[in-house]
Amino acid sequence: MADNYLEKRYEEVFGNGNKSRTVTHRRASLDRLLPLNRSYRGYDKSYKVHKLQLDAIVAVNTKVASSINKQRLRFLEVTQGPVADIVNNNIAMGRLLPELNLPLPGTEPEAFIVVCSTCEENPGIDIDLGISLQSMLLKAVDLGLGGIIIRNFDKAGLKSELGLELLPLAVLAIGKPAERISLVPVRLGDDLRYYRKDGVHYVPKLVLEDLLL
Ligand SMILES: Cc1cc2nc3c(=O)[nH]c(=O)nc-3n(C[C@H](O)[C@H](O)[C@H](O)COP(=O)(O)O)c2cc1C
Repeated sequence: MADNYLEKRYEEVFGNGNKSRTVTHRRASLDRLLPLNRSYRGYDKSYKVHKLQLDAIVAVNTKVASSINKQRLRFLEVTQGPVADIVNNNIAMGRLLPELNLPLPGTEPEAFIVVCSTCEENPGIDIDLGISLQSMLLKAVDLGLGGIIIRNFDKAGLKSELGLELLPLAVLAIGKPAERISLVPVRLGDDLRYYRKDGVHYVPKLVLEDLLL
């Protein structure tokens, strides 16, 4: 990079080797974004997401990796209104907490990015999709928003109701989160299902030790 960003960040995080200059260690910004980058299933409806915010989020796709650099994903931006209602009526949230019927009434998301593919779904496009979705979520958090990846929907149904030419592979809901979410470190063999207690949504995550081979 022209401004030497990577070199400077490396020095901030790991020190500057033999150079005598003292380096202040700052927490890497990804370490701040990742814990906040949760799957939010309830949003503050008084906050209206603007199309320009969705533009900024979708724009990360001009910079991310893509298998053989084919860049076959396309994005439909949806903000509050009848189209958002169509999306809401087609998506399902919180499969592990069916008794809650998430999202709770009055906290439904109203802004979406529907991610479509110009080709049939295949392993390569699915990896592109994962990279795109996670990058967009991180950008949303960077903008002070939050979101959730949704794959639990009827692809053909949403395609037809939205009048899309391309098949939707995933929906990203975006908004101002109205949920408290906490990560819980767990060990291999523990229950990995997310749960809610006293108004907090808990998400078990395996500790590093149990992820390493
Ligand atoms: C590929 C993918 C598809 C997902 N689809 C849904 C979905 O359809 N509905 C839903 O409520 N959550 C969905 N999620 C969110 C997961 O349930 C969530 O990532 C998981 O509970 C862990 O929570 P966290 O994202 O806060 O770490 C999906 C996540 C991924 C990565």
